[in-house]
Amino acid sequence: MDEPSSWTFTGIALPDGRRRDLHVVDGLIAPEAGPGARVVDADGLLALPGLVDLHTHLREPGQTEAETIATGTAAAARGGYTATLAMANTSPVTDSGARVRALRELAAASGKHGPSTEVVAIGSVTRALAGEELADLDSMLAVGVRVFSDDGFSVPTAGLVRAAMEALLPFDAVLAEHCQDPTLAGSSACCHEGEVSRDLGLHGWPSIAESVVIARDVQVAGYLGARLHLCHVSTAEGVEVLRWAKARGIRVTAEVMPHHLLLSVDDLRQSFEGGAGDTTYKVNPPLRPADDVEAVRQALADGTIDAVATDHAPHRPSDKDKPFPEAKPGMVAVEQALSVVVETMVDQGRLSWAQVADRMSHTPARIGALRQQGRPLVVGEPANLVVVDPSARTVVDRDRSLSLARNNPYHGRSLPDPVVATFWRGRQTFTRG
Ligand code: DOR
Repeated sequence: MDEPSSWTFTGIALPDGRRRDLHVVDGLIAPEAGPGARVVDADGLLALPGLVDLHTHLREPGQTEAETIATGTAAAARGGYTATLAMANTSPVTDSGARVRALRELAAASGKHGPSTEVVAIGSVTRALAGEELADLDSMLAVGVRVFSDDGFSVPTAGLVRAAMEALLPFDAVLAEHCQDPTLAGSSACCHEGEVSRDLGLHGWPSIAESVVIARDVQVAGYLGARLHLCHVSTAEGVEVLRWAKARGIRVTAEVMPHHLLLSVDDLRQSFEGGAGDTTYKVNPPLRPADDVEAVRQALADGTIDAVATDHAPHRPSDKDKPFPEAKPGMVAVEQALSVVVETMVDQGRLSWAQVADRMSHTPARIGALRQQGRPLVVGEPANLVVVDPSARTVVDRDRSLSLARNNPYHGRSLPDPVVATFWRGRQTFTRG
């Protein structure tokens, strides 16, 4: 059966708590029901603007055994997302205008009906992510790229950060920094440096590996008046420097990941009890102690951290089935991101639904300069929305994931299961049935 082009959700709640009938007609939010509209009794359900993920690893081109644009965006739609910003660390790296165009063509040709979310290319800061010379920023800016990141690595020097920011400034484009200075950790660092790493005999990343990069970059951004976005802030020290920079009016924004809101280095420790450790818990930046978890929750609640992004990092089993220090870092995140935010923030009374819409849709759309996303749910706007059941829960089963990857840290946990259906430009891209 053909998908209807008109939908009516009767009595649905909006993020501010008001209830009304919401009409979708031909891709837009409409003042009244369209002809032949599918009518859904939405009593007890909530509509949020479609979520926007500033930080996804789609792995295509080049690593399609781990994920493809089709599977990664299907998983994102399952998580309530209508836009996915695709990190540049593919093979080849997205480091020129030609590569951006090639990625867009791959996305347009993916899936049966195209991708399940808008796919937006992030360009690399340095050529091939090598940290030596700038990537072809001009050609990427010319084709509309507005977010640039060497994610996976920090841009190695203040000089390169400055040169990149000077190129981006006239376009109001943003450098999204991965904050992890490798010179403060050994090459086999694989978890947080502290009590747990010492007990387990592992090499760790100290908290200051994050905060020194933040301190360096906010100074450069402040000096130039340029924009800076901080990827996956995970430490109390990092939050402290971020607060300092914001108090001075430096144009910095920041994101936090679901796993840094819910999981801690204690989950890692437990996985080593009687075993070799679960490499699912290996991620960069690493899982931190409880004090850091509390610091990032607090910063998200008070707006110091602007957004939740996912760092969805699918890996092949063969890249994870290794001794802990050798396994690839990263965990899948996009299907359970909202679940984790509900568990750690909404159900704790630390974020309202309107603030969830802000941190996961409006603000990331603004940071990523996406004009058709993160819009209010009012007549005339694109019908990008997620229908939420605030009270549903489930036990996460990684084998029911729409992602190709199984490195899911929430497997076996009971979590909220809020996403009922997702609509992108009025097209239903996910339904739980
Ligand atoms: O754990 C991570 N994995 N952190 C990153 O920054 C990169 C990502 C990946 O690409 O696998």
